[in-house]
Amino acid sequence: MDTLALEAKGAKGDAVTGPVTPARKPKPAKKAKKAVFFEVEILDGKTKEKLLLLDKVEPNATIAEIKSMFHKSHPQWYPARQSLRLDPKGKCLKDEDILQQLPVGTTATFYFRDLGAQITWVTVFLTEYVGPLLIYLMFYFRVPFIYAPKYDFTTSKHWVVHLACMCHSFHYVKRLLETLFIHRFSHGTMPLRNIWQNCAYYWGFAAWMAYYINHPLYTPPIYGEQQVKTALVIFLLCQIGNFSIHVALRNLRPPGSKTRKIPYPTRNPFTWIFLLVSCPNYTYEVGAWLGFTVMTQCLPVAFFTAVGFIQMTVWARGKHRSYLKEFRDYPSIRSPILPFLL
Ligand SMILES: NC(=O)c1ccc[n+]([C@@H]2O[C@H](COP(=O)([O-])OP(=O)(O)OC[C@H]3O[C@@H](n4cnc5c(N)ncnc54)[C@H](OP(=O)(O)O)[C@@H]3O)[C@@H](O)[C@H]2O)c1
Repeated sequence: MDTLALEAKGAKGDAVTGPVTPARKPKPAKKAKKAVFFEVEILDGKTKEKLLLLDKVEPNATIAEIKSMFHKSHPQWYPARQSLRLDPKGKCLKDEDILQQLPVGTTATFYFRDLGAQITWVTVFLTEYVGPLLIYLMFYFRVPFIYAPKYDFTTSKHWVVHLACMCHSFHYVKRLLETLFIHRFSHGTMPLRNIWQNCAYYWGFAAWMAYYINHPLYTPPIYGEQQVKTALVIFLLCQIGNFSIHVALRNLRPPGSKTRKIPYPTRNPFTWIFLLVSCPNYTYEVGAWLGFTVMTQCLPVAFFTAVGFIQMTVWARGKHRSYLKEFRDYPSIRSPILPFLL
């Protein structure tokens, strides 16, 4: 334990000298304030090699500040790619964690892991969503080398194909705009290596769906206009619902903060589903793709909807568990994604 007592020192170690009035007897010096500084050592999480020793760290320093100090000595590891843990195999500490509130005493040992090159979430989402938008349009306009040459730049004779293109484009434009102007993300970055799998998922599915929907031999839905119109209503209602939930989530978090709160229904009826579901944005998302499946009556779309549903169910269950853990008063009636079911 390394306790440093600073005698009449300012925060940065400058001596504090009070003015002395000659006419009066000088006041006795104030009792020296004791400030306990922390010693922080950072070890490599794998090799246990000592990477840095900081001997005078303010007790109220945050992990983010410690990461910045570490960055100064190791410029190749900028804060976003650092993971600091109390135990080499333990949980990653949060940037806002405060040194003196951690179970560490006055000598703290942190284990460092390099998370690899990082990319911002906004870039991730933009890359993920611009791809499907453009890929789908390439199939819609039947650019050369996709179908037989005689179909190059021809258009489908089925109006549902044009409607499907509008719906698909609308969906991804909405997502792009939401990413830019609505979402307030708490995580700044993600490892660059993950972007390949995310893009492969969205881009690959978009190409697969678009190939069949825009195929010259595509056959429209079996129940015709009635099926397409019903599906369009489902699709649009779910898009409005999804957007409403995104706005409600945004309003839970003041700009620039990472606050997480329990979401509750607002005056917008599309948010009333919060009474029964923890992640209704996923519920609406699945609903929109279900609408698109019925509209196009296309197997790859049904497959994309099913995979998306499974993925979002896994995430919703995780988020639901975190809500229950984090908030004691979390409404117990809510289900992760489907009311009363799942
Ligand atoms: N088709 C598919 O396969 C598929 C899959 C996934 C997502 N999506 C779509 O993409 C959208 C976004 O996905 P996502 O997984 O990022 O959704 P999400 O985790 O629900 O987050 C949406 C936004 O709300 C914030 N947020 C969530 N809960 C909050 C709370 N309790 N308090 C304050 N802020 C909160 C999130 O911040 P944080 O940064 O803190 O999380 C994020 O900025 C989905 O709603 C869905 O429409 C589609």
